[in-house]
Amino acid sequence: MPKYRNSLNVDPDDKDPMITRRSFLALMGVGACVLGVGGLVNASFLGFLYPNAMKVPPSIFSLGRPEEVLSRTGKIFNPKQKVFVETESGKVRVQTAVCTHLGCTVNMVETGYSCPCHGSTYDRHGLNTGGPAPSPLVYFKVFKGASGDIMVDKASTTLDWDAAWYSPTI
Ligand code: FES
Repeated sequence: MPKYRNSLNVDPDDKDPMITRRSFLALMGVGACVLGVGGLVNASFLGFLYPNAMKVPPSIFSLGRPEEVLSRTGKIFNPKQKVFVETESGKVRVQTAVCTHLGCTVNMVETGYSCPCHGSTYDRHGLNTGGPAPSPLVYFKVFKGASGDIMVDKASTTLDWDAAWYSPTI
């Protein structure tokens, strides 16, 4: 009869360094766990190393060609940039649609703006008139870019609704 019939039947006195199937599978399991945990730690660590600046949208964006922008009338919501673009008699101004309380997007209502999240209200100029909103809705700087497009700089703001108008020379 052979010394042992299968690899699970190990002789304790045997000095044979061969690995058994059970210990091999156990090692594979431990190895898989270590690799999995290591992968998670690496993924979260590499997230910190990746420059966050790439994820922040640029503060300057284009509204389009002046003749195209000025051909519209009234106040139009731009959902991508979360702004209201208002045009009137060859002038344009851009106001934020982001509530100053916790950042929800406000809706245009008859009296001005209303926030659906916690009920803040603003008048038609964007001055906060009720609810938890701590400050008015700002206007952004509008200018003509080098390409000739009408540009908006979200980093440059004003609360002066008259000075916020921009009149491009076509
Ligand atoms: S986010 Fe607008 S009222 Fe709270």
